[in-house]
Amino acid sequence: MNTEMLYALRDVAGVPSHPVLFLILGVLTFALHILAVQVMLGASGLVIWGALSKDAYKRQLAQAMLGTAKIAVSVAVVLGVAPLLFVQVIYDPFWYTSNVLSATWVIGFIVILTVGYLLMYFFYAKNHHLATQKTVCPGSMILSLALMLVVGFIMHVLVVQMLSPDQWMQWYAPNGEIDASGRGLHAYNLWRFAFFISLSVLVIGSWLLAYRHYISHRTDVDSGYLQWLKGLAGALSLAGGILAIGFGIGWMLTLPESQASFGFSPWVWLAALMIALTAVMPKLMGNKVNAPLFGYGLFGLAAVALILVAVAREMLRWNILFGDFGYNALDYAVNMDWYSTLLFFGTFLIIGGTVLAYFLTVAWQAGQTDGVYTPSPAVTRLGNLSIILITLWIIHFFVLGLWVWLG
Ligand code: HEM
Repeated sequence: MNTEMLYALRDVAGVPSHPVLFLILGVLTFALHILAVQVMLGASGLVIWGALSKDAYKRQLAQAMLGTAKIAVSVAVVLGVAPLLFVQVIYDPFWYTSNVLSATWVIGFIVILTVGYLLMYFFYAKNHHLATQKTVCPGSMILSLALMLVVGFIMHVLVVQMLSPDQWMQWYAPNGEIDASGRGLHAYNLWRFAFFISLSVLVIGSWLLAYRHYISHRTDVDSGYLQWLKGLAGALSLAGGILAIGFGIGWMLTLPESQASFGFSPWVWLAALMIALTAVMPKLMGNKVNAPLFGYGLFGLAAVALILVAVAREMLRWNILFGDFGYNALDYAVNMDWYSTLLFFGTFLIIGGTVLAYFLTVAWQAGQTDGVYTPSPAVTRLGNLSIILITLWIIHFFVLGLWVWLG
């Protein structure tokens, strides 16, 4: 596969805004996606750990983390769509070829994800009172987590396959015989996959500190439980950081020969430094963890660490596709479409901002209230405004579609 062939696979319509915009948004949204994935994986792990234990604190934590895991799956899925859109805009020759080569798995991905999520809800339906009652069918939660990992592995394979255009023909027609089944998973790097998965141990550590701070104001919370959570969060952060750095080193050592020096690039060092800092922070913070800035701040630090990981990951992709195969994602023809660009940012900032502000306010205030929570008139107004904005957006969507269709 030579460079001209790769360019020939591009969309002739060009892209509707400068490609650098898609590149930056792709990196940022991937970081958010993987952050939600890691909260989901870490929380699911803690649910299983607690559900299989008789210890009262572990069971109490399992009940809380089941609530987190359920929501985190939906956040991970929604935030997975965003990098999917961006990656297929500027890297379409690579992304689509990789998807076609493993088409059966790409379709299976949706089925596996659906079954995994349903199993989590099945476990939830059977275990509303995990803290106080015996666990029913823990196997469903274990299988759910295993299926989520399969889903992540499929994504991983698609990302790794797209980086090897020199091998596509060999995968498509091994020994000259065409295999159009799409059943193969042709390339993976278990170090890289383990790196992303192990970061969930680090991320859930910082999530636990935030959770601890969140519940610490409630009168019905046992101080022994809060103290136990602090120790657990510190241990998980440290273990997660060490694991991730270990797997990360393995990933860097197994890069293709042409990229062997990438492990020494400033991007990698910066990401590794942030991972290490996030890992040791709970120990460094000591009792400061009781202050909101530190209680919640560590999760913010983990998010920054993941943004730097996402940047390093993108630099590697850039180095491979440009350095080894001559493909420059930034010279994509631009067919500027101001309306869609403004619509995108308008939707994101105005609708996304208002609706998210409403949801977060309600979730926050409800969690801090003992007994039944009643929103204030201002919060109710924000809720009504969110509904009006979404309704206007949907009307606009159909009016615009009809105008384009009939015009
Ligand atoms: C819920 C289970 C999921 C898990 C455990 C998971 C995990 C992962 C992991 C580990 C990666 C990084 C792969 C690598 O770079 O080696 C990744 C990338 C990605 N995931 Fe997910 N994922 C999940 C769901 C989804 C869903 C539902 C979508 C889309 C709707 C999605 C879209 C993506 C995309 C587009 C990338 C690659 C982005 C890029 O290369 O720029 N993921 N995912």
